[in-house]
Amino acid sequence: MLWACFAAAVAITVDIPRPPASRLLSADSDDGLAPPVCNLANQQRLCVEQVHLAFGGPGEMVVSWATADDETRPSVVYWGPDSFSRTVNGTAAAYSQLLYVGSELLAPAMGAPGDERAIIQMQNTSSWASALSIFPFGQSSSYKASTTVKTGSGDYKNPAMIYTSPLICTATLSGLLAGRTYGYRVAGHTRDYSFTMPPDPTSGEGTYPFSVGLTADLGQTRASRANVELLRRRAETVGVGVVLLAGDLSYADGWLPRWDTYGRMMEPLAAAVPVMTTAGNHELGSGEGFVSYNSRYPMPHTASDSPTNLWYSIDVGPVHLISLCSYAATAPGSLQHRWLRRDLARIDRSMTPWVIVMMHAPWYNTNSGHKGEAELMRQHMEADLYEAGVDLVLSGHVHAYERTLPVYRGLVDECGPIYLNLGDGGNYEGAYMPWLMPQPNFSAFRQATFGVGLLTIVNQSHAWYNWSRSTCMSANGSGANGDPSLAHINLDAESCISRSSSRTDNAEDPYANQDGAWIMRSSVTRQRCIEQYNATLHGHGDADAQSGGLVNPPAPPSPPP
Ligand SMILES: [Fe+2]
Ligand SMILES: [Fe+2]
Repeated sequence: MLWACFAAAVAITVDIPRPPASRLLSADSDDGLAPPVCNLANQQRLCVEQVHLAFGGPGEMVVSWATADDETRPSVVYWGPDSFSRTVNGTAAAYSQLLYVGSELLAPAMGAPGDERAIIQMQNTSSWASALSIFPFGQSSSYKASTTVKTGSGDYKNPAMIYTSPLICTATLSGLLAGRTYGYRVAGHTRDYSFTMPPDPTSGEGTYPFSVGLTADLGQTRASRANVELLRRRAETVGVGVVLLAGDLSYADGWLPRWDTYGRMMEPLAAAVPVMTTAGNHELGSGEGFVSYNSRYPMPHTASDSPTNLWYSIDVGPVHLISLCSYAATAPGSLQHRWLRRDLARIDRSMTPWVIVMMHAPWYNTNSGHKGEAELMRQHMEADLYEAGVDLVLSGHVHAYERTLPVYRGLVDECGPIYLNLGDGGNYEGAYMPWLMPQPNFSAFRQATFGVGLLTIVNQSHAWYNWSRSTCMSANGSGANGDPSLAHINLDAESCISRSSSRTDNAEDPYANQDGAWIMRSSVTRQRCIEQYNATLHGHGDADAQSGGLVNPPAPPSPPP
């Protein structure tokens, strides 16, 4: 495989101090987060929300939504270009889980559930547990006269600290044809949506260009919403076929109603474009235990012979996507590793010339945040990806953007994958700094702001990759001219400068609002890389390799609006 990358950014060495965090979107303000269609917390009937798509098996699209309506059969009506109209029944399920009180809930600037008093009120059971109403035996064992916030997992003896989800419904639309656009409506919903199935790469027509939106660590702040809106606009203007989200979705962090607000924020994008995910640590920690993630975001693991929703693969147009889990066993002999090897061996590059692997914690990253956390997983699996000629590896977790050159075992290697770290989705924790110095050779571009990636695959051997900054965080949490409605949605790097902050983006290109690179490969060089690998048995690529039959790249596509 031959890689060549051309960074479009202008390198400028200037320090930009950046503030740490953004508050959460609030349903009580004009953030636009919670359209007043439903109030699932009050179990309001006859409302449907949080509609989102994910690919199922071949020719399938899975529609998911949340509702409090337990009388209407969960179903989806859909129609295609040949005007047929079908109704497919789905399933509905709910779950119950203890709430978790993390330290971030105690910061009023972070929004819901509000201030400390609201949490104390929920944890205090004295209003109903001080005396048993039907037996003269004194207090209930649930009695707790809390006057301060208790952090950690909620008490199972206090129903106020137990979250019961709305009905989470899913329906699988099947028999869908490649490249066709379908309309659909969820039973009880007020809107029609449409989506387009990915092209059939063997048909020869309409396969290219094929665009893939890239993000991770979204959360639900104003920066998150700006990134979601940027992806939605890309989908409208350039026809994004799929969005890949490399973990850390809602940042509910155990305060589970935030899964519902996150679902509402995502609907405008995810009801029109399938969003394929992997689970991050925020889907696991704070008592989450993957319960909300697995319940709400079904991925096509059955269709890819995976035993769990946590890892899977799927062909999407010219891409074979492999989604791995950073928070499950990865060692040789483990279920995940054995599945990965089987899946890599099944890839047919004549069908899917591009192979993308997605995981949450990055193998290659040069930020000080989360340094080296995924090193063991890298040791377990890197050779497998290298041997299979994986083109791109996506990750998040580190809350900043970084692109590497093709790399293997820490060295620039044209036969290795390019690593994109897209943890700059906008979550409340803010951007990570500083960057490790000196910048390693394999690190091509890095910046601690917020943005999204777009991969435009133009043919079997060339793809144009672009990252666009969507937001900078202003120092005081407000936007231009002090207008809070403009906070975190500012493309003017100058506006991000605050000399009062001690946090500094020490990247060489902190001002650049774009990063771009051609990603190129050919079947000739791929074959040579494989032979090289076999010859050296896990050795590095030959630095003196020939060009491998690649021609000069076409002109870059026009920047998306
Ligand atoms: Fe994260
Ligand atoms: Fe993470």
